[in-house]
Amino acid sequence: MKLYHELATWWPLLSAPADYAEEAELYWRIISQYKPDIEDALELGSGGGNNAFHLKKKCRFILTDISPEMIRVSRELNPDCEHFVGDMRGIGLNRQFDLVFIHDAIMFITTEEDLEKVFRTARKHLKPGGLLFIAPDFFKETFRPSTSHGGHDDGHRSIRYLEWTHDADPADNLFETEYAYLLRGRRKISSPFQARGFVAGQGAKNAHSPATQVMSNAVQRQKIGIKWGSYSSPGPKGRGRAHKMCIRPGGRGPFFEENLGSFAAEGGV
Ligand SMILES: C[S@@+](CC[C@H](N)C(=O)[O-])C[C@H]1O[C@@H](n2cnc3c(N)ncnc32)[C@H](O)[C@@H]1O
Repeated sequence: MKLYHELATWWPLLSAPADYAEEAELYWRIISQYKPDIEDALELGSGGGNNAFHLKKKCRFILTDISPEMIRVSRELNPDCEHFVGDMRGIGLNRQFDLVFIHDAIMFITTEEDLEKVFRTARKHLKPGGLLFIAPDFFKETFRPSTSHGGHDDGHRSIRYLEWTHDADPADNLFETEYAYLLRGRRKISSPFQARGFVAGQGAKNAHSPATQVMSNAVQRQKIGIKWGSYSSPGPKGRGRAHKMCIRPGGRGPFFEENLGSFAAEGGV
């Protein structure tokens, strides 16, 4: 999934560590009720390490994730924690812990067969009397469709997102979450496009404007379609003017820019 690979460096702006303080506190209260004497913990699917950022104050945390890019992000936030790349359906560290902790990453385990593999991974990493704690985003019995939005700025880059969660087929055990992201950076076009060798054309008109990418991806199905578009920032008189921008491979070919009058997202990569 692009969010956890090509877009991983945006994670701290999408989901900031401070947003996790309250839930981490709640998790620890529950965990401590069942097992008060925890010295070390293993997290499976630790992502950007936001929960661990708070929980590592309670005990030693070892962090694992299937995405090397997310592990890199988490290392920045948690340099004091050990990190390993690995799939929760089979990783083997040959070590045992008081606690195995799985947060929202469990939502990516979509079959009973894979869930069994995760339980086996947890079992082999637990000391006798150890505790497995799983905190899914939803349970089938209490699932409700929802939307939310958010995002953060770091002085250089900003992200805003809209998250839309729904259940396309109530008869199965899957739900679907779609995201639309607006990424604003100093450069006109940021990483997902540059990674593919695309550069932004420099137009005479609106050349001053920061580019904003619009992308949406179907997350739980991992069938991702990226759409892109850009719009101009408000001009000197405060009026915004929308246009679509041509992104051309390798910087060659004619620049193409078309005023549309209002915002539009077009094309795909
Ligand atoms: C929403 S993020 C987790 C964020 C994390 N709870 C935090 O506190 O920052 C979900 C993570 O699950 C990871 N993931 C998905 N499937 C996985 C698997 N089979 N094994 C390990 N990690 C997995 C993704 O790479 C992603 O980093």
